[in-house]
Amino acid sequence: MSTTSASRKILVTSALPYANGSIHMGHMVEYIQTDIWVRFQKMRGHQCIYVCADDAHGTPIMLRAQNEGITPEALVARIGEEHRADFAAFGIGFDNYHSTHSNENRELAETIYSRLKENGHIVSRTIEQAYDPEKEMFLPDRFVRGTCPKCGTDDQYGDNCEACGATYDPTDLLNPVSAVSGATPVRKKSEHLFFKLADFQDMLAGWTRAGHLQPEVSNKLDEWLNEELREWDISRDAPYFGFEIPDAPGKYFYVWLDAPVGYFASFKNLCDRSDHLDFDEYLKPGSDAELYHFIGKDIISFHALFWPAMLAGANMRTPTAIYAHGFLTINGQKMSKSRGTFINARHYLDHLDPEYLRYYFAAKLTSHIDDLDLNFDDFIARVNSDLVGKVVNIASRCAGFISKKCHGQLSVQCSEPGLYQHFVDAGETIATLYEGREFSHAMREIMALADLANQYIDEQKPWVLAKDEATAGQAQAVYSMGVNLFRVLMTYLKPVLPVMAKKAEAFLNIGALDWNSCTEPLANHLIKKFKPLMTRIEQEKIDAVLADAQKTLAAGAANKSASKPQKSTNMDPIADTIQYDDFAKIDLRIARIAKAEHVEGADKLLQLTLDLGDETRNVFAGIKSAYAPEDLEGKLTVMVANLAPRKMRFGLSEGMVLAAGPGGKDLWILEPGEGAQPGMRVK
Ligand code: 2FM
Ligand code: ZN
Repeated sequence: MSTTSASRKILVTSALPYANGSIHMGHMVEYIQTDIWVRFQKMRGHQCIYVCADDAHGTPIMLRAQNEGITPEALVARIGEEHRADFAAFGIGFDNYHSTHSNENRELAETIYSRLKENGHIVSRTIEQAYDPEKEMFLPDRFVRGTCPKCGTDDQYGDNCEACGATYDPTDLLNPVSAVSGATPVRKKSEHLFFKLADFQDMLAGWTRAGHLQPEVSNKLDEWLNEELREWDISRDAPYFGFEIPDAPGKYFYVWLDAPVGYFASFKNLCDRSDHLDFDEYLKPGSDAELYHFIGKDIISFHALFWPAMLAGANMRTPTAIYAHGFLTINGQKMSKSRGTFINARHYLDHLDPEYLRYYFAAKLTSHIDDLDLNFDDFIARVNSDLVGKVVNIASRCAGFISKKCHGQLSVQCSEPGLYQHFVDAGETIATLYEGREFSHAMREIMALADLANQYIDEQKPWVLAKDEATAGQAQAVYSMGVNLFRVLMTYLKPVLPVMAKKAEAFLNIGALDWNSCTEPLANHLIKKFKPLMTRIEQEKIDAVLADAQKTLAAGAANKSASKPQKSTNMDPIADTIQYDDFAKIDLRIARIAKAEHVEGADKLLQLTLDLGDETRNVFAGIKSAYAPEDLEGKLTVMVANLAPRKMRFGLSEGMVLAAGPGGKDLWILEPGEGAQPGMRVK
């Protein structure tokens, strides 16, 4: 796509984050990459619209809401707020942020589905799947755990083995267990709807080679396209949080069916509120508007196969291009909860300037799908040296003299027109690099210009010229030249550093910089007093971010069983809960309170002698606010019988009693006589 063509209409999306987890540093690679590209397009004068939304549907979101005792809608609303705040703090300038659980998305998903059906691309057939008989639900692969049928490793997910890499169906797992209830899954039949992807085999073979994808992505997709494409299961059985399929009661669209439709839904929602944006103008077949999806490399098949096929099958326009990026590593390794490098956006934001990260990612991003490393030593060195040491330094070393000795007035003549023109001419090369997502190369070009600017000032030695009244005018000219070069640099950096650019605009006393606003230098122009634009990164701030990440990890671990390692993935479906196996370890028994006594010196405790039928236990219980000892004797309670004995200030406590109620005076212990006998197991 030409970078100089007349105003273009461009619709851009980033992948929709799931509404059941926090935004982390890995996510930010994509949103920062997209945002830089969008800001660049806007600065070029194009009508570029950036939309996103929360990906609200699916089993993990449904189960998390159940675990929290709230509706999925309430969960989605809460997480949506959190996501919006994190993105805003990082300067991600969405034109609209919506949700896939929206009327627009329901209508669009239904339209696409019914057109696919009318066009003969949907079939139904009965399949057999793992089913949780206790929870009465079909289990997605990730919710079945068991022993790998190939190598015998325990506790593997239902679709692949992390030990030997084997892939299989959940029904192949040995000793399978439902991760939702702990029950043994059974096999159960159900009718499902399938999208006949093979109908689009030829179309996709052409489309994936027609310049819509990065070459390495096209090559990767040959692994799919060299075989007959399999039918794609687009339905799920109730209970499911999603959209019920209109002509299939009790069946819901699979989350990945309506997720990409959410891009259009978010745009529709924006168009409906706008007086100048027209949905059809962008999305009708044959539209001259461009449509780009920025995504991670893990979701290529959904975007470069299923999605274009769905759109073609529904007689809708297909994307102009899909831009995939790699994953983020931290200090050379996968983000890891156990290493304390699973850093949420908020951990970072609480201590560091978002623009440091925007610049660092820009300095590393290319148009390819290689992983990108956030190395903290390099991060500090790069940001401090490039932004603070080179760019900001130009403004700060020039501004003082202009303010103090020239009343803020820049000189009338440009002292070095050739150098200035060199900076202006570099704009087209840099624009081409931005357009092609070669941000790393663009940053190198910009920093090379910053070096030239500093070199120019060093050579001219304006601080020497300034000492002599006769050459003070030349000093003003050199410093003014420095300010003008800084202005051009800030123009080129503005897509990456929008906040710093805004401060620079205020300092330069000019309107919003766009790509072509610097063709002429500022002359005889009044600038404002210089205020520091950015401070250096300090190691302590990084340490604080990592400490916060560690704290979150520790807090999460405290809520979980220490014995069972959790998979370190942001997709953990039931984070902050314990597994059934953990619960099964607790030995709950009925105990008769044989004796209850005050404990001298303790405000809240009573000392209980508990009769378990074949043994007695001494337990200290914090229930004095609710019961006098004489009220308790003879009553029944439930106790944790296998809790390790704890030495307390008043003696050894050999278990824990359970009571229910709001607390204070209302703590309820069981009345005897309802069939419970001391020593009985409760579960
Ligand atoms: O992988 C994910 O996080 C998905 N929620 C991305 C969806 S992108 C689009 F298709 F909605
Ligand atoms: Zn295995």
